[in-house]
Amino acid sequence: MREAEFLQTLHFNSLRLADGSLVNMSVPIVLAIDDAQKRAIGDRRKVALVDPNTNKPIAILSDMEIYHHNKEERIARTWGTTAPGLPYVEEAITNAGNWLIGGDLEVIEPIKYNDGLDQYRLSPAQLREEFSRRKADAVFAFQLRNPVHNGHALLMTDTRRRLLKMGYKNPILLLHPLGGYTKADDVPLCWRMKQHEKVLEDGVLNPETTVISIFPSPMHYAGPTEVQWHAKARINAGANFYIVGRDPAGMSHPVEKRDLYDADHGKKVLSMAPGLERLNILPFKVAAYDKKQRKMNFFEPSRKDDFLFISGTKMRTLARNRENPPDGFMCPSGWEVLVKYYDNLAPG
Ligand code: ADX
Repeated sequence: MREAEFLQTLHFNSLRLADGSLVNMSVPIVLAIDDAQKRAIGDRRKVALVDPNTNKPIAILSDMEIYHHNKEERIARTWGTTAPGLPYVEEAITNAGNWLIGGDLEVIEPIKYNDGLDQYRLSPAQLREEFSRRKADAVFAFQLRNPVHNGHALLMTDTRRRLLKMGYKNPILLLHPLGGYTKADDVPLCWRMKQHEKVLEDGVLNPETTVISIFPSPMHYAGPTEVQWHAKARINAGANFYIVGRDPAGMSHPVEKRDLYDADHGKKVLSMAPGLERLNILPFKVAAYDKKQRKMNFFEPSRKDDFLFISGTKMRTLARNRENPPDGFMCPSGWEVLVKYYDNLAPG
């Protein structure tokens, strides 16, 4: 992003395009450079971006500009707080350079991660092609950064049911796990992909009507601000319906004992967000383990004692201690993957 795009993103959560139209854009996509790199670039108007692992050029940035990286302003406007300990902030902002460089970006060839998962990294254009190949008449997207439990699955299968009831004949699910940075206590991408494969093999989600692909964005944990980016990016990938449940892109406050964002604000913001009018937002109530019916179900406050909330922390603790969650929380083969992951993490 050049400075004008950076400022519009931070201050308006949207971008005015050259043709006058407005698109949603709530998270800046910027490249930071330090003082030495700025000096080395000098007056040049074009630079090559090089993969630090292979030293190979991967893109060319031309007609570029360099501008001040106001870190505090960027953090405060993206997260709504500058509390110490926010994930991603230290890694990508605080310790990054004092300047941002933006311009016209020409990517030389598709980026490869060479981690055995590249076949899952479909570009927005490839995803659109896949949806046409499957003759989808509706595409509903599900963003996630966690292993799929049956509460997530309930949101997805209920959406399909609703779309069929609305008259769509071939709704296709885009299961779109986030593949960039996640905080240290989240399950790493390669293990989540193994878990997602089991969920499809097990039939919790139907492989015939599901496309699984990796969304390469880093996770910001910036709640209602970030969820707009999550939704907008899926419009580009061909989705016209977007599922949103409890506290999307949320997390615990880094220093206080509470959630950082109001759990309902993500879905409220999405249904009003400028530039997202083309997307049908499908808001969902919270799902929890229904002890009476022994399965994940939508929470009913009138019989709240029948429900058990299994938080991410609780799930991780169970898997780490090789304990089983209640029957019906997650398919057993998917659960096994998590137990294996924590076994591999054994202190060494
Ligand atoms: S997120 O950071 O990607 O939003 P997560 O992978 O936990 O986190 O959630 C993916 C989607 O499922 C989000 O739309 C979230 O709101 C929804 N979700 C997660 N858990 C629940 C739940 N128990 N009830 C309802 N929705 C949920």
